[in-house]
Amino acid sequence: MSRTLVICKPDAVERGLVGEIIARIERKGLTLSRAELRTVDRATAQTHYEEHEGKPFFEDLIAFSTRSPAMLMVVEGSDDAGDDVYAIVRNLMGATNPAEAAPGTIRGDLGLMVTENLVHGSDSNESAEREINLFFPGA
Ligand code: RTP
Ligand code: MG
Repeated sequence: MSRTLVICKPDAVERGLVGEIIARIERKGLTLSRAELRTVDRATAQTHYEEHEGKPFFEDLIAFSTRSPAMLMVVEGSDDAGDDVYAIVRNLMGATNPAEAAPGTIRGDLGLMVTENLVHGSDSNESAEREINLFFPGA
């Protein structure tokens, strides 16, 4: 059974969309094993997004990620979900830019801006374990 880190980003919390996003994850058949509403500190956000350091949008991304509480979650699948729960969640999320994300996805249905795209999901099993350890040490 694999697992992934999912974040309802500050815009999702501010807009009252946490329940909608969790409902979609649960209806798919995945389960939450950890969840915490937390304002992410700057150092943690920088580590989380270190692959993007130096890019033009990095500062705005860190400011956005830390501006208000986010819902941090560890999401797991049953054995039926296979070994790549991260990929199932990425499909539910849709493309990075909500303006281009397919209808039926979280970003496609609920968002408009690439800078405020509602949800984060790890992009590989390796990223998932790194990110879970960052936000939930020892989990
Ligand atoms: P995330 O890591 O947040 O789940 O999003 P992602 O994998 O779909 O996209 P990624 O390439 O990792 O980018 C991380 C976040 O940076 C912001 N971004 N802004 N202004 C821009 O051109 C731009 N490009 C990316 C997005 O908010 C994206 O979620
Ligand atoms: Mg990413």
